[in-house]
Amino acid sequence: MGGATLAPRRPWRGRRVLLGVSGGIAAYKVVQLARDLTLLGAEVDVVLTRAAQAFVGAVTFEALTGRPVRSEILAPGWALDHIRLAREADVVCVAPATADLLARAAAGVASDLLSAILLATTAPVLLCPAMNDRMYANPATQANLARLRERRGYRLVGPAVGPLAYGEGDGPGRLEDTGVILAHIGRALEGETALSGRRVVVTAGPTREPLDPVRFISNRSSGRMGFEIAAAAWRRGAEVTLVAGPTALPAPTGPALVRVETAADMESAVRAALPDADALVMAAAVADFRPAQRAPEKIKKERTPAALALERAPDVLRETRDARPAGLVVVGFALETEDVRANARRKLNEKDLDLVVVNDATVPGAGFEVETNQVTILDRTGREEDLPLMSKQDVAEAILDRLAPLLARR
Ligand code: CTP
Repeated sequence: MGGATLAPRRPWRGRRVLLGVSGGIAAYKVVQLARDLTLLGAEVDVVLTRAAQAFVGAVTFEALTGRPVRSEILAPGWALDHIRLAREADVVCVAPATADLLARAAAGVASDLLSAILLATTAPVLLCPAMNDRMYANPATQANLARLRERRGYRLVGPAVGPLAYGEGDGPGRLEDTGVILAHIGRALEGETALSGRRVVVTAGPTREPLDPVRFISNRSSGRMGFEIAAAAWRRGAEVTLVAGPTALPAPTGPALVRVETAADMESAVRAALPDADALVMAAAVADFRPAQRAPEKIKKERTPAALALERAPDVLRETRDARPAGLVVVGFALETEDVRANARRKLNEKDLDLVVVNDATVPGAGFEVETNQVTILDRTGREEDLPLMSKQDVAEAILDRLAPLLARR
């Protein structure tokens, strides 16, 4: 979730996540997943298979989720729990899903609580396979996975490739990272939204304009705002291309990440992504100017230039206007220090934008290198909306809330 902080927000708050844990060593990692889901505001019902209890205890999950943990299908007082839990779940996620659990699910066996829930639920089901690489490669397991995906419509998350307990090297079989699983649960919880299936191009981060092979001009953009928008748009069901200048942020789960360096590279990447796009969100802090000359070799200090000659870098929003498909919704950003609204409205008109998100760089807690932002959103109809100081994650949601209805009218 792109540098996410775990605070209750959409789509987690009050949602029921049934977390099924089957008996593999990766079960220990799912303790963290249960904790993260709970911190995000979800109500997490953990169901352990008997084998899972050999790896992790019910008390651990009960303490972290604050809810009872179930294992037995036939227990006095819990007689119809498999039906109740299956019905109440907004999403069912099995992590780890062992070869045995997959085989039982594929066969439709309902011999224990978790497999019975899988048969009884109508909620989206995510399976996160984790097992020894040879067990995973076995045609029996592969056939079960194909059947679960194609005939039952279950979504498979992972396995990842990497070191395995008792593995023969780095084969597929590792449980996918819990952050990745979390992002997929979020997308499943969103269901159908105005962004589902829409193609959204997001730019993020600074650009670097080289002076010589080792030096460049850049800016303080961290890329966080754009990464949060890309992650949130993917979670809401969009197909996202994230064009990012150099940043230290980890790739978010979901978006296709295109790394670029200069404003010129960003222009080509945006141009390439535009033809089938539904929306473009230009959150990148693209250089306005660049060194007029790029020295082919490192400039020696004996030859320190007295001044740097600069030239205009391409304006990505302007230069790619001819590549915009009809009806493309375009969101631009503006960082201003004076005449904030007037300047922002001028950019909206000049760059032909549907929305402009304005940062007032003089407000504490807004802009570059901070976790929060305070923005004003302007639209074509003349509306100007001041949002309170909030996390960049919440700003990303607010921007998408305003972008979505513009898409719906296409
Ligand atoms: N932008 C762009 N290409 C550039 C510079 C900016 O596409 N070379 C985009 C930014 O991503 C942002 C919008 O244009 O969405 C506004 O950027 P900003 O730098 O605030 O405005 P400028 O047009 O550069 O105007 P000024 O320097 O006068 O503030």
